[in-house]
Amino acid sequence: MAQIRIRNTNERIEDEAQVKAFLESQEVVYEHWNMEKLPAELREKFVLSDEEKAQITSIYDPEIRDLAARRGYEIWDVISLSDATPNIEELLKKFEQVHTHTEDEIRAIVAGKGIFIIKGKDEVGYFDVELEAGDVISVPENTNHFFTLMENRQIVAVRLFIEKDGWIAYNVDDPAFVKA
Ligand SMILES: [Fe+2]
Repeated sequence: MAQIRIRNTNERIEDEAQVKAFLESQEVVYEHWNMEKLPAELREKFVLSDEEKAQITSIYDPEIRDLAARRGYEIWDVISLSDATPNIEELLKKFEQVHTHTEDEIRAIVAGKGIFIIKGKDEVGYFDVELEAGDVISVPENTNHFFTLMENRQIVAVRLFIEKDGWIAYNVDDPAFVKA
């Protein structure tokens, strides 16, 4: 279950109903996939072969197709990141830049943890969404955000795209963003 930290106030939202209500107020899609479907050997595996990635998209094919039908995604893949990923430090540096896309950014976390930092509406300012396996999140289009790993630095996620070519990051230099 996701948890929220609002950066300006350091307020945490941990109650599931309140997390849902908060994310809804920010127009962030938040859903869940059943992680019981994932074989035990894939739940803590962060270096995946192409076959294992295909196994994950096959297991979650109904969930993927349901999202695609509702929200227009055409293609999807599986990414894994960990300290075993070549150039992980460089990749993280690239990720940790506030940016936007013209498409929404949807991720279903299959293993590990990650954080989306998103610019909220009006007075809310930036907030962190701490995600774990089973959480599905979509950052709305044209919304300042970035993604990073949590302290365990391991994640596997399914990504869905409407059009891969259209999914370009536009970096934003936002003086309102305070690193924390
Ligand atoms: Fe992004």
